[in-house]
Amino acid sequence: MATARRFVAFLLLCLLPLLPTTSAASHGDSVVLGVADEDIQSESAIFSLYRRWLAIHRPHDINYRVTGRDWDLGRQNTLLKRYNIFKNNARFIHASNKRTDVTYTLGLNKFADLPNEEFRAIYTSSTTRVLRQQGGVMGRSFMYQNDTQPLPASVDWRSRGAVTGVKDQGPCGSCWAFSTVVAVEGINQIKSGQLISLSEQELVDCDKKVNQGCNGGLMDYAFQFIAENGGISSEDDYPYTATDNKCDLTKKHLHSVVIDGYEDVPANSTDALMRAVSHQPVSVAIEAGGIEFQFYWKGVFGGACGTNLDHGVAIVGHGESKEGIKYWIIKNSWGSDWGEDGYIRMKMNEAEGLCGINMMASYPVKSTPNPSKAKISDTLIYLPTGRKFGQPLAS
Ligand SMILES: *[C@@H]1O[C@H](CO)[C@@H](O)[C@H](O)[C@H]1NC(C)=O
Ligand SMILES: *[C@@H]1O[C@H](CO)[C@@H](O)[C@H](O)[C@H]1NC(C)=O
Repeated sequence: MATARRFVAFLLLCLLPLLPTTSAASHGDSVVLGVADEDIQSESAIFSLYRRWLAIHRPHDINYRVTGRDWDLGRQNTLLKRYNIFKNNARFIHASNKRTDVTYTLGLNKFADLPNEEFRAIYTSSTTRVLRQQGGVMGRSFMYQNDTQPLPASVDWRSRGAVTGVKDQGPCGSCWAFSTVVAVEGINQIKSGQLISLSEQELVDCDKKVNQGCNGGLMDYAFQFIAENGGISSEDDYPYTATDNKCDLTKKHLHSVVIDGYEDVPANSTDALMRAVSHQPVSVAIEAGGIEFQFYWKGVFGGACGTNLDHGVAIVGHGESKEGIKYWIIKNSWGSDWGEDGYIRMKMNEAEGLCGINMMASYPVKSTPNPSKAKISDTLIYLPTGRKFGQPLAS
């Protein structure tokens, strides 16, 4: 339409995650430690806090004994360095949680032995690429522009069955694929009534025109890929491996869910974003490299952050706290052992929004129904024994 073609600074988003994930982790409160006054009273108290944290997040390190060998001494130096970082972080978290002017609590989570500069470097700057592109293919209009429905006071797509469980991108800069998939899973449930967990790995492996797999990408290109590919496969059909692989063409053509395109939410408008979110989960880009973001545990986040967009997540609702603070409900992809069981509530601000959340929001458009199950199973050959295996039809 007549929307002026705009120059958009396209970032390839992502955080290269970092550490071995804690496999035993389940819910935030059992894997995140708070910092009480007595925990930082003395060196031995902090060390004991560190040991408690190691037991959860680095069980292999906790009983580490120096044997006098060179590599052991190197290992010891590393642990000492990590301990000092941990100590600084614990003090920062303690001081932040003492403030009476903040509405969120920080905690010693799985990132507690990373200094913020390292967290930022691993997660953001090293993989953020700024490209400039004129216009785009789809996504130029905003279908909710003339929506005159009163905006609901709160929305939570989780309670309406449109959101799958929290996922973990692991050691791969694929946040953009996770952000995309949340929005597609959402619109699919809203239109078809079925909640189907979809494949981030297909996007990582096959959406290679602009996006770069584990090295970052952008949600709009991923929506475009899914529309042009004729659909996206399910998580079950094309499971996540957190690595860059060759595109599996058979799996790429198992289309569980179809979308028709995508649209961008007009930038820097909280009202437009609320309107979009009242209709479906929405993909957004934010700056997530700040130290408060790193250690977010619970509450309504309003920590310091800029608009250097470096991470893709998705808004799955909004609400208002008892204190009257309006917030977005964000699904992240750092596992359920970060934040509020994998989610963060972020204060709703005007203009560019907190951490730039209003700057680059988009959502998929879906009117075409999904292929019937029969069509998918056409590509499967059933053996008399009941075993089945996938094989392209025309080979
Ligand atoms: C909204 O209304 C205006 C004015 O009637 C119209 O030009 C525009 O196309 C409409 N937008 C959408 C998305 O329907
Ligand atoms: C949105 O706000 C940001 C930060 O103020 C600004 O850099 C950007 O150009 C704005 N975008 C639009 C489309 O107005």
